[in-house]
Amino acid sequence: MKIGIIGSGAMGRHFASKFADLGHTVSIANSRGPASLQQFAAETGTEAATVEEAMSDKDVIIVSIPQKNVPELPKPLFAKLPKGVVVIDTCNYYPDIRDGVIPELEQSGIDSLWVQEQLGVPLVKVFNSITAESITTLGRPKGDNDRIALAVSGDNAKKKETAFGLVEALGFDPFDVGTIAQSWKQQPGSSIYCRDLRLAELKKRVVAMGDDWSAMREAIREEHRANMALIIVDYAAYLKSLKED
Ligand SMILES: NC(=O)c1ccc[n+]([C@@H]2O[C@H](COP(=O)([O-])OP(=O)(O)OC[C@H]3O[C@@H](n4cnc5c(N)ncnc54)[C@H](OP(=O)(O)O)[C@@H]3O)[C@@H](O)[C@H]2O)c1
Repeated sequence: MKIGIIGSGAMGRHFASKFADLGHTVSIANSRGPASLQQFAAETGTEAATVEEAMSDKDVIIVSIPQKNVPELPKPLFAKLPKGVVVIDTCNYYPDIRDGVIPELEQSGIDSLWVQEQLGVPLVKVFNSITAESITTLGRPKGDNDRIALAVSGDNAKKKETAFGLVEALGFDPFDVGTIAQSWKQQPGSSIYCRDLRLAELKKRVVAMGDDWSAMREAIREEHRANMALIIVDYAAYLKSLKED
């Protein structure tokens, strides 16, 4: 497939090098422009691109930038994408430590619903609920006892199927959480967020959350607030706490 990646941080670079290794044609872009990505592109067999180039003539576009920067992306180009293009959202909302409060997002409290409104196209939310460390180290072949699962949400079944394939190719079992309106189940503060769970446990926890966002919202937000406070003082302790929970 032809894959465009917007964002060349820990996540974007991992996607680029892995998907290139798997035989996909990859373009990667960031905010500074292709010159800043020339060396990485040469080392990984990818194309250093502008955001516009990373969005042009692609089967899949992965948006992997800080949530607060999503409104900077060129909405008219998203509007012009052919209907079949799969747009993946890996973003997370960290108001206290990176993104600041985004009032429109706070209305629904559902991170990817806001991203979807900003970009104006249907999204598949995936790869948000695993740390960069885990995505680079925990991929395992299908059937391996230690293989963990990743949550996937989206409104379009066919596009989710494409995302399932990419999740599997990176060494994880995909689990369909539901629609974008239900994607709060995989956002920061939820019981499956960055827990590196196997499929059966992931499924159990998603079912246990139920479907009532208004009933779950405060508890999930409170957990996220506590985690953000811990990240500021001790990131290693935060990561350790996820493994114990
Ligand atoms: N790191 C993790 O463990 C992890 C795990 C799951 C999900 N996520 C989420 O995934 C997203 C990316 O995470 P990350 O850790 O890879 O972030 P990161 O290391 O901070 O990198 C962010 C990237 O976004 C680019 N960017 C920012 N604004 C842009 C714009 N307007 N146009 C194009 N590129 C832009 C930056 O460009 P420059 O390089 O030019 O500054 C940078 O390459 C975030 O929303 C994060 O919360 C992160």
